[in-house]
Amino acid sequence: MTNDSQSAQSDADRVVIFDTTLRDGEQCPGATMTFEEKLEVAELLDTMGVDIIEAGFPIASEGDFEAVATVANRAKNAVIAGLARAIPADIDRCGQAVKGARRGRIHTFVSTSPIHLAHQMRKSQDEVLEIITATVTQARNLVEDVEWSAMDATRTPIEYLCRCVDAAIVAGATTINLPDTVGYATPQEYRDMFLAVRERVPNSDKAVFSVHCHNDLGLAVANSLAGVAGGARQVECTINGIGERAGNAALEEVVMAIQTRADVLPYHTNIDTTWLSRASRLVSAVTNFPVQYNKAIVGRNAFAHESGIHQDGMLKHTQTYEIMTPESVGVSKTSLVMGKHSGRNAFRSKLKELGYELGDNQFEDAFTRFKALADRKKHVYDEDIEALVDEEIAHMHD
Ligand code: KIV
Ligand code: ZN
Repeated sequence: MTNDSQSAQSDADRVVIFDTTLRDGEQCPGATMTFEEKLEVAELLDTMGVDIIEAGFPIASEGDFEAVATVANRAKNAVIAGLARAIPADIDRCGQAVKGARRGRIHTFVSTSPIHLAHQMRKSQDEVLEIITATVTQARNLVEDVEWSAMDATRTPIEYLCRCVDAAIVAGATTINLPDTVGYATPQEYRDMFLAVRERVPNSDKAVFSVHCHNDLGLAVANSLAGVAGGARQVECTINGIGERAGNAALEEVVMAIQTRADVLPYHTNIDTTWLSRASRLVSAVTNFPVQYNKAIVGRNAFAHESGIHQDGMLKHTQTYEIMTPESVGVSKTSLVMGKHSGRNAFRSKLKELGYELGDNQFEDAFTRFKALADRKKHVYDEDIEALVDEEIAHMHD
């Protein structure tokens, strides 16, 4: 999309990207990052146009506090958020951590579902309502930008959820996040929840609504987009979709879905998508979490084609089998992987790329030998093809 057409879009269609790689992402078992690694990730997120970076959970440890405070001091563009439970000491600590930011946000949350209230909080609905009013008011006295989250919102009765949201907005919350904490919702349910809350809560137009989806059923991205269809305008997500258990919605998938399907998802984000591949590699490297080969957008096979039919189509017109360009996500080019499924056209194009021009008979011989090799060997590299063709040429001269 051109800048011109982007600026022609209304602000009401702008989806704000809230990245929580450094907080929810880091909560994924084994994904701990060092202080320096967190700064490196934060710098890249800031450069690529992420609107809000949740840099950590300041009360959790000295290290987390330092990381949030340093990211807050260094960020050039993004709002810097820290997470705080609905506990006065958490909120104070978070306020201290984000105070050096150009714009700091306190993100405070409390559970609202019956199962959490009964077993985790051991509090009544009325007690939780009082906590919401007190903690959001406290946060709002420290910073102007306060986000309140209803943990386990998707398993909360809608009437009570609306009372909680109203209490948070009246106390000064500027963003209301309704997370699918356990990845339980379906897209239609999630969209309907946003529509209902926005319609029923008297002050709903005073806050931005936000989605935060976990991927336990593999629905995190679909649910996030459904929440946006229900009126949410902030998406919480992580690079590579890392996060608690099965992870969070993957930033790169949400952003590219919006960019690629503007015809049915009429929104826009501020992300420079050419950084997506680099961000994925960096997060994978610092967390030691490999990116699955067939991962959408950033997996190594996302722009690779092996079957003869697909390679033939790609050589004729790239849009036959690609719905976005590799360059748009920072990958230098499509790769036609040479293997047993490759056909003559792809083999001819590979030879040309490697600088060979063979006569018809030589080509047929080389192709037959290539197919035999591909049957024996999992990966046929350029060097294998060079060796095979050089042998073929030498043989012709014998
Ligand atoms: O999944 C969740 O509910 C959370 C909250 C802290 C926003 O991560
Ligand atoms: Zn979460």
